[in-house]
Amino acid sequence: MGVCGYLFLPWKCLVVVSLRLLFLVPTGVPVRSGDATFPKAMDNVTVRQGESATLRCTIDDRVTRVAWLNRSTILYAGNDKWSIDPRVIILVNTPTQYSIMIQNVDVYDEGPYTCSVQTDNHPKTSRVHLIVQVPPQIMNISSDITVNEGSSVTLLCLAIGRPEPTVTWRHLSVKEGQGFVSEDEYLEISDIKRDQSGEYECSALNDVAAPDVRKVKITVNYPPYISKAKNTGVSVGQKGILSCEASAVPMAEFQWFKEDTRLATGLDGVRIENKGRMSTLTFFNVSEKDYGNYTCVATNKLGNTNASITLYGPGAVIDGVNSASRALACLWLSGTLLAHFFIKF
Ligand SMILES: *[C@@H]1O[C@H](CO)[C@@H](O)[C@H](O)[C@H]1NC(C)=O
Ligand SMILES: *[C@@H]1O[C@H](CO)[C@@H](O)[C@H](O)[C@H]1NC(C)=O
Ligand SMILES: *[C@@H]1O[C@H](CO)[C@@H](O)[C@H](O)[C@H]1NC(C)=O
Ligand SMILES: *[C@@H]1O[C@H](CO)[C@@H](O)[C@H](O)[C@H]1NC(C)=O
Ligand SMILES: *[C@@H]1O[C@H](CO)[C@@H](O)[C@H](O)[C@H]1NC(C)=O
Ligand SMILES: *[C@@H]1O[C@H](CO)[C@@H](O)[C@H](O)[C@H]1NC(C)=O
Repeated sequence: MGVCGYLFLPWKCLVVVSLRLLFLVPTGVPVRSGDATFPKAMDNVTVRQGESATLRCTIDDRVTRVAWLNRSTILYAGNDKWSIDPRVIILVNTPTQYSIMIQNVDVYDEGPYTCSVQTDNHPKTSRVHLIVQVPPQIMNISSDITVNEGSSVTLLCLAIGRPEPTVTWRHLSVKEGQGFVSEDEYLEISDIKRDQSGEYECSALNDVAAPDVRKVKITVNYPPYISKAKNTGVSVGQKGILSCEASAVPMAEFQWFKEDTRLATGLDGVRIENKGRMSTLTFFNVSEKDYGNYTCVATNKLGNTNASITLYGPGAVIDGVNSASRALACLWLSGTLLAHFFIKF
């Protein structure tokens, strides 16, 4: 204010100040108010859905009539409200500014608004675009799904937002950076494999607000596969345990056989315990007749598989390797390792 000589040229001073604010002219750069052509509406106005938008029009004291229009509909003419929309209110009507506010803006309010003025009997207009932004929101997403290995899966993630959000799918069970599986609303997986099971995250992103993120779980069923079945050596009179591990979805159920006889807890001094992927066959007190081959059968609704496991006594020859040759192999191995060690250092 000091620069303008407030007492002498009050309106000019205000105009200069408003112009400075409007065009963000750094103070110090001279602005000649004579250059301005009225009315001056602001640049386009961008607001989020639900917020209030202020439509500001800078005028001068030669202006005799003012109005704000939504397309061709008059919202306000001077202080008179023409719009029946309660969200539209007048904010300022002074010789230098004519502003209205639209409260609780919605997407259909987007569009051109016109500040119309009459100066020296000449009508002039200035247009501003109201741009309404909407944060991304996922509206429809596939539910968790269970499929059999080899089938095809399509996941869907529909999102709204303004600007239109970018939708991506990521496989969360996969290491960082490799997880992006689709840059699209649809995620299609044909011939799905067991390692493609797990959580998939749909993310809808625009630059209005934080992305909206939702997860979908894909369960891939596959038949059992016996991952661990180890032969066990036990002396007579000791406790012996045979174990069998199977991976399967849904989880496998186990059965144990000796030759064609199915074993059961309580019979012949054995106990069968199933815990998750693992089944154990326990002999409380191993006797000579217990030695031999056992079959572990793992079953789920997609199929079954079996493995043969041997319970053997001291001195037994298993798979052509007896304890003595194992010990020798061990010695040989550590010798080789030692040699490597000395060559290297
Ligand atoms: C205002 O928005 C309209 C419509 O979106 C666009 O054509 C125009 O270039 C924008 N003007 C400015 C100054 O951003
Ligand atoms: C502006 O005009 C559009 C189209 O006629 C209408 O849907 C919207 O409600 C109007 N907005 C205001 C604030 O008048
Ligand atoms: C989601 O999209 C699917 C496929 O387009 C459609 O069948 C379903 O009715 C939609 N659900 C909702 C809640 O919009
Ligand atoms: C194991 O069985 C043998 C022969 O049946 C018996 O003599 C021995 O007492 C048993 N040991 C245990 C700990 O039950
Ligand atoms: C037990 O299994 C092994 C190898 O699977 C086989 O060589 C052996 O003959 C079997 N023994 C009996 C008694 O079936
Ligand atoms: C084990 O698997 C083989 C080959 O798949 C099959 O022939 C055999 O009957 C199975 N044994 C049992 C006890 O299920």
